[in-house]
Amino acid sequence: MRKLIAGNWKMNGSLAANAALLQAMLDGLGGKTPAADMALCAPAPYLAQLQSLLQGSAIAWGAQDVSSHEQGAYTGEVSVAMLKELGCRYAIVGHSERRQYHGETDALVAAKAQRALAGGVTPIVCVGETLAERDAGETERVVKRQLAAVIHAVAHCTSEIVVAYEPVWAIGTGKTASPEQAQQVHAVLRAQLAAATEHPERVHILYGGSMNAANAASLLAQPDIDGGLIGGASLKAADFLQIVASAA
Ligand code: 13P
Repeated sequence: MRKLIAGNWKMNGSLAANAALLQAMLDGLGGKTPAADMALCAPAPYLAQLQSLLQGSAIAWGAQDVSSHEQGAYTGEVSVAMLKELGCRYAIVGHSERRQYHGETDALVAAKAQRALAGGVTPIVCVGETLAERDAGETERVVKRQLAAVIHAVAHCTSEIVVAYEPVWAIGTGKTASPEQAQQVHAVLRAQLAAATEHPERVHILYGGSMNAANAASLLAQPDIDGGLIGGASLKAADFLQIVASAA
């Protein structure tokens, strides 16, 4: 399977900065087919800009969240139909920052994943343990609980999701999980997917958490690491392209 390198810009960017960053990425690719599938997940107000600048390029785009509701009186929410209209292929759901700061539960994340799939957008489902949970030996239990909620909701469509393992303690900290630590959790997630779908090997399981140009190759070399979900390094064209190249 081709690896998938997805960027998560989080709450960063401006029209001018995005235009420069996207141009630098497209120039860097030089019209060649990248070594991995690429996507960028931007704040909702910039999705139209990504659509106009990336249309027809090798870089797909997506959102960082999606409403669990279809439409209606949900002030501030963005529906999957809106994302679809803006050409989004992906929507991140259940990022730890949304679970932590916005109170998102496993059930809500599962409903969002289901809504995204129903609307033709691939959910990138994030799971991951906190440092306290890891120290308490609860990593497996936590990630399996988080993924189980989504599998239960999407059922026979499980092979259509993307999973991202993002240990909370590795996000934005410069502390990456070692390739062995990451692989161990990815293998657990793959086994869980295997119980739910005939084709667990078709599901991309991305690693996220301080992945950068220097450490990407060793992480991506692990058998169950099918790509990356990149925060900080996706805001620098050269770094992001280097990570994509490491997927070769
Ligand atoms: P960093 O790459 O900045 O650690 O962020 C990872 C992340 O949260 C991607 O969703």
